[in-house]
This record gives sequence, structure tokens and C-alpha cells, in this order.
Amino acid sequence: MPAELISGTELRKAILEELRGEVARIKEKYGKAPGLVTILVGENPASVSYVTLKVKTAESLGFHEIQDNRPESISEEELLALIDSYNKDPDIHGILVQLPLPKHINETRVLYAIDPDKDVDGFHPLTLGRLLIGGRAVRFLPCTPAGIQEMLVRSGTNLDGAEVVVVGRSNIVGKPISVMLGQKGPGANATVTLVHTHTKNLADHCRRADVLIVAAGVPGLVKTEWIKPGATVIDVGVNRIGINPETGKAILSGDVDFAGAREIAGKITPVPGGVGPMTIAMLMKNTVRSAWLHLGGGASEA
Ligand code: GUN
Repeated sequence: MPAELISGTELRKAILEELRGEVARIKEKYGKAPGLVTILVGENPASVSYVTLKVKTAESLGFHEIQDNRPESISEEELLALIDSYNKDPDIHGILVQLPLPKHINETRVLYAIDPDKDVDGFHPLTLGRLLIGGRAVRFLPCTPAGIQEMLVRSGTNLDGAEVVVVGRSNIVGKPISVMLGQKGPGANATVTLVHTHTKNLADHCRRADVLIVAAGVPGLVKTEWIKPGATVIDVGVNRIGINPETGKAILSGDVDFAGAREIAGKITPVPGGVGPMTIAMLMKNTVRSAWLHLGGGASEA
């Protein structure tokens, strides 16, 4: 029997519906909406389409949304000053600077300039330090790992004591998700192995995974024979492998050989329509959380 599909598109709908209710409660209690600013520098087509989707989603939830587009020529100092103005703006609870930034701007300096209490992307070192400590120290979860954890929990995948193998050690996916799933608590408590380009016997590690999370950026890296029968497979890869001559749109492929894997796995995420839609839903969830914290006076608490 083919694996059950974990649809990010469907789960996103349910999560946004839940958030709509929370936005209504925030408005009722404080007379204000969650405020999100999305800062886009330049006109990179992929970034423009990501930001447009984020803005549309925020608007559909009734957020106070500012789309702040700046020219490619903006200086680093100007961008830092802009971020500082949003750090001080009481109507803004979340600040997102779309990446990548132009080469003349130091991305790290920019991300570190965002007030950690408004870091709804979850990229600031303080946010990641809090994540490592876990429990009540956690402020915002980085969006893609948060989306993966939600997919696992909402699909009924058992994580308690499960063997989780994470392929890829990026700062935005592999490292944080491996920490999150190894934490003590519900939706975690897993035994996590993080594998990467220097790992010996990659296939053997994958074969023992009850939950296999692949975020390597290599199309078709994980072969059908590497999957344990009945495993849950989360494919984070979004690789542009060509252009559809009829639509002119990019053809996307994940990091897993999907057709083969679907015959072996118990549950699997598609690409597109899997992890991607969850990332934006988690950005909205973080912004709602931030609004509660700021409006309720808890944002500056440790
Ligand atoms: N560029 C690609 N993905 C992301 C993301 O999740 N956040 C930001 N800020 N930039 C991105």
C-alpha cells in the first residue's frame, strides 16, 4: 500500500484557521492586530514570490502588515537604521528580512540587529540559544523546523523514543530540528542522529530511521532502498531541476526519490505541497505568539 501523504497545504489551512481565532481574541482583548513587517531588498524573483505569499497570508489573517521593499542599492547602514526603527515601533511584533541579501550587505550583521523579541524568523543567535536550552526558555522556533515538527505531530507520527535521522546540518533546518526533536517533552523525546557530507555509511544510518528528515539540497539523494519499511519521511528539499516548457514554471524535486519511497514508507511529504507551505504558517504562528507577548507585557521576560 502506498504511503500516506502528509500534505502541508492541508495542514496549513487548519493552522491558519486556528490562528484566525487567535487574531480575533487579540483584537478583542487589546484592540490591536499582530503586526508584521516584511523587508525585501532588491527584486530577486524567488524572494519576490516568497514575500508576496507571506504578505498575502498575513493580510488574510487580519494582521497589521507592512511590506517594506527597498532598492538593491540600499546601504548596510540604511538597512540597519530601518530595522532599528521597526525594533522601536510598538505596532510591529515581528520583523522579517528576506534572504538572500545583496553581496555588499553583511547578512549576519543584519540578522543580529533584529530585536530578538521580534525575531519571528527564528534566526537570531539568542533565539537559537533559547531553543538549545529548551522548555520555558524557548521564545520562537525557526519556521521550517517548527513546520516539520507540526507535520510529525499532526500526522500522528510517534516521536517518543523513535530513531530520527536528520540528513543535512544547516543552521536553518538540520541543526535546529535535530535539537528540537531530542528535547524532553511531547512532540520530541526522540533519539536523533545528524548525518552530513562527511558521514560514513549514510545509507545505513537512513535505513534505521523511524523518522527520516532530509534537508540536503541534493535532488534524489535518498534512494528507495535507504528507507525503512513503514518509516515517516519528511523531504525538505526544494530543488529546481528544470523548466516546464508549457507553463514556463520551474519543475521542483525533493531530496528523496519520491515515487520509490512512497511504496516503502508509512508516511511521506510531497514536494511541492509538503514542508514549504508549513514554513509560512509557522511565521504567522510566531507573529501571533509575539503579539500576545508584547501586548501582554511578557516580551521582555526571560
Ligand atoms: N529566504 C528563503 N527562505 C527564507 C526564510 O524562511 N526566511 C527569510 N528571512 N528568508 C528566506
